[in-house]
Amino acid sequence: IAMLTGSAMAESYPDRTITVIVPFSAGGPTDTVTRLVAEAMSKDLGQQVIVENVGGAGGTLGAARVADADPDGYTLLLHHIGMATSATLYRKLAYDTLNAFDYVGLVTDVPMTIVARKDFEPTDLKGLIDYVKANKDKVTLANAGIGAASHLCGMMFMNAIQTPFVTVPYKGTGPAMTDLVGGQVDLMCDQTTNTTKQILGGTIKAYAVTSPARLDVLPTVATAEEGGLPGFQVGIWHGIYAPKGTAPEKLDRLSKSLQKALKDENVVARFAELGTKPSPEADATPAALKAKLEGEIARWKPVIEAAGQYAD
Ligand code: MLT
Repeated sequence: IAMLTGSAMAESYPDRTITVIVPFSAGGPTDTVTRLVAEAMSKDLGQQVIVENVGGAGGTLGAARVADADPDGYTLLLHHIGMATSATLYRKLAYDTLNAFDYVGLVTDVPMTIVARKDFEPTDLKGLIDYVKANKDKVTLANAGIGAASHLCGMMFMNAIQTPFVTVPYKGTGPAMTDLVGGQVDLMCDQTTNTTKQILGGTIKAYAVTSPARLDVLPTVATAEEGGLPGFQVGIWHGIYAPKGTAPEKLDRLSKSLQKALKDENVVARFAELGTKPSPEADATPAALKAKLEGEIARWKPVIEAAGQYAD
């Protein structure tokens, strides 16, 4: 009976619109990635896959919404590395990260860029480091709250140069980018999925990429390592989650659909323009995402504890 129920369920699912919660503002990097993937998955699933932005508290409000949702396969979460870092950064989280979700699969691993408003004085990463050290009381760094990728990268930068400076939190780096372009804030470390177009358009200035090698889309931007920060590398991996208790047949259907979406021509081309690429098929699986999340919680815990910066 269980098998019959399972296969009948797999055939009829999905029979209505699926909502993917993005735990940051519209127009930002997570939103951009999610909308591209959702459009491709929607073609495969034969149902609309819509995006709802639930920003705030570094992605933890949106994640909490999904942790509390019905595990019926119609509410999903697309979140990034912040899912792992927030497990340590937040002393009180509204959900138990490792026990509140089921897994669909990994989506992409996005490099970051250290960027500034276009008229910011320093001309290269070395100059930036000297400038920040000399002006630490007046330099401002935008981020998307504690638990965001931009927060993690900013924290890594401050630790690397042994200089804490002022941060300005937003509900996502979409709105933070508007202020960076407008010159209301000085600096940001943000994903290429949000910065590439602005860097190429000259509306912001780039000092470094956090990938091991330079990126095809930004060939003139040095790696952080080249710029004088050895070992300064971080990739922002993204995954799709469902509330705990979602039927395995539904997770499997979603995972297969994700695998197809990651080969979709438009997704591959747009990701490349944005400085990233889809995760390989073998990683777009529940098991791969679960292993990634567990490994990353363990990896970042000591780093965050050493930095000693927590959210209340
Ligand atoms: C966003 O979509 O706004 C970002 O992923 C924010 C961040 O984590 O820095």
